[in-house]
Amino acid sequence: MGQSKRSVYDAEPIPESAREIIEQLMESGDLFRYTASKENPSQVTLLEKEFAAYMGSKYALAVNSASSAIFLSLKAVGVKAGDQVLIPAWTFAAVPSAVVHAGAQPILAEVGESLRIDMADFEEKMTGNIAAVVVSHMRGHTSDMDAIQALCTKHDVPMIEDAAHSLGTLWNNRKVGTMGATGCFSFQSYKMVNGGEGGILLTDDPDIIAKAVFMSGAYEHNWAKHNFDDVPFEKYQNQYPLYNVRMNNLSAAVIRPQIPLIDARVAKGLANYTYVENKLNASGAVAVPPADPRERRAPDSLQFNLIGFDDAQTQRVMDISTARGNPISIFGIQGDNARVFWNWKFIGNTPDLPKTRAMLKRACDIRLPVGMTREDLDQTVDFILECVSEARMRIAS
Ligand SMILES: Cc1ncc(COP(=O)(O)O)c(C=O)c1O
Repeated sequence: MGQSKRSVYDAEPIPESAREIIEQLMESGDLFRYTASKENPSQVTLLEKEFAAYMGSKYALAVNSASSAIFLSLKAVGVKAGDQVLIPAWTFAAVPSAVVHAGAQPILAEVGESLRIDMADFEEKMTGNIAAVVVSHMRGHTSDMDAIQALCTKHDVPMIEDAAHSLGTLWNNRKVGTMGATGCFSFQSYKMVNGGEGGILLTDDPDIIAKAVFMSGAYEHNWAKHNFDDVPFEKYQNQYPLYNVRMNNLSAAVIRPQIPLIDARVAKGLANYTYVENKLNASGAVAVPPADPRERRAPDSLQFNLIGFDDAQTQRVMDISTARGNPISIFGIQGDNARVFWNWKFIGNTPDLPKTRAMLKRACDIRLPVGMTREDLDQTVDFILECVSEARMRIAS
């Protein structure tokens, strides 16, 4: 923001160490994950091993996006055409899209100004018709996983974690993305690990990974190259369609050297976030929703609510910041924002969700790439507070 040297739109740089393997891949042209032998695994297979080990999961399947990981998860846990899937009303459009792609109907649970799922509404909507739940840890905000897990167990409903934005987040000291039937992460450029595009599915369930591997595009006996000894692939041979959402070796080569950097990025991201959070909260004009005490955040963006602003003042925040070249995004004010449920026309009629609507009308969104310096952060805070105070003053005068 402002004259910041590092723009809020910057992605994480790719480590120098990726170059050697990328050169080799360019030389050999060996970009397809299943060309390599079982004994000499491909970059994609190595990424899967390394990411699963880092997260403490049994199995990982790398794919071309988190959206694909969520879609494969829905299919692998048994969601069928016409089923209902409970999702938060505040998430990226990719989530209801994955549900629709699986032929199912998204049911939306309210999200309040804490930016977490409203558990009373979630519980009310967890009826016998719900075939699966997708919990989006939207923008890294973790909903009450204890309560969600208890409800899913009680109703015997599989829970899929959309942890696209939550790599490195802990809940009760447990890694987010390892608590559900599957966990899905994104390597799209605006995430903690930058693969351009890419995603990964984690699970401890041998049947789920077997089905997901087939559906990702492991045709014929390519499943053998995943090097999983205890997965019942033979049982599912030719039983599942091939959706062909594989990752290629070049993406994996870009992602692999970033795995050892995740912990440092999380620490830096959290320090930056806390610094900006304290400064914004001290202003009294805006409020950053507090962390849940059970959660250790790993943020790469920051959301804050405008306090006591009316619609006209809120609009002015967007207008003033846009006129100065750095629009502060306000989810429910910015025209076609893909995180706003009433823009998801493709799901049919959306229900009335007053809590989520009220939150979206005042919640602001900024990226906070972990590479930002103190100077960058100060400029960002100053810019936000200037726009916010001017928006309020102009109306008052
Ligand atoms: C909450 C959430 N879920 C899922 C996705 C989809 O990720 P991808 O772009 O890798 O499909 C995103 C993308 O930003 C997201 O924000």
